[in-house]
Amino acid sequence: MAADTNLTAVGRLKNQVVLITGASSGIGRGIALAMADEGADVVVNFIGDEKSAHEVVDEIRGKGVRAIAVKADVSIEDQVRKMFDEACRELGTIHILVNNAGIQKDAPFHEMTLADWQKVIDVNLTGAFLCAREAVREFRKRKNVPEGSYTAGKIIFISSVHETIPWSGHANYAAAKGGLQLMMKSLAQEVAANKIRVNSIAPGAIKTPINRSDWETPEAENELLKLIPWGRVGETRDIGSVAVWLASDESDYIHGTTLVVDGGMMLYPGFAEGG
Ligand code: BGC
Repeated sequence: MAADTNLTAVGRLKNQVVLITGASSGIGRGIALAMADEGADVVVNFIGDEKSAHEVVDEIRGKGVRAIAVKADVSIEDQVRKMFDEACRELGTIHILVNNAGIQKDAPFHEMTLADWQKVIDVNLTGAFLCAREAVREFRKRKNVPEGSYTAGKIIFISSVHETIPWSGHANYAAAKGGLQLMMKSLAQEVAANKIRVNSIAPGAIKTPINRSDWETPEAENELLKLIPWGRVGETRDIGSVAVWLASDESDYIHGTTLVVDGGMMLYPGFAEGG
């Protein structure tokens, strides 16, 4: 390990540029703010909510680092290319990619339309592929390891507990997340030699717009809590702090794995009393 690298709690991502997809709200926003707190310059990708994206950018700039908002649909190749071009032109390069953009289009299996199946696969799986491919190209082109880091680049996929837990009524989403797991591992195996570190985070239930109906009333929240041994629904900062650590050199030996951040959701909570 390089002796001069900063491993203290503050500024762990100094001199590094991170691109976060779907960063205008929810988990992406939480990660963007957490990484800016550690000194990273941030590219805030968004698709719909331009106003919120600019609010995130303003908040990040207020922390004394650089930030830009870039509109792109991650499932469209040309838009992804242009987003990376713009990010590299404006901020110099990219050192960290957080593949966070994701959607749900839930339906019972027998009613799921091909369009809803395809859209979720396009955004959650193909979008992650397209962005990771551009990031790998940029990391390989740049080659050199930035000051304050051991790697040429890092990729973090925001997966889900549903890369493992089957989810009735959400077959498209679970299939995309399951696919993400082996894409991440295959990529990790492939690019280790290029000093590119690749991992996933699998959040459980985190309070964001995507699952609002599951926590916004006390009744719904109580139902959800039956699935969470730790006894609270997650907050975006729970993912932000792990993402910072996973992007920092403190986790330099973690490669090709999924960190589950779910308050114990994957512990089969029904078996606490059943079975
Ligand atoms: C989903 C959320 C859900 C959580 C736990 C996430 O991947 O997007 O809607 O609350 O998994 O089931």
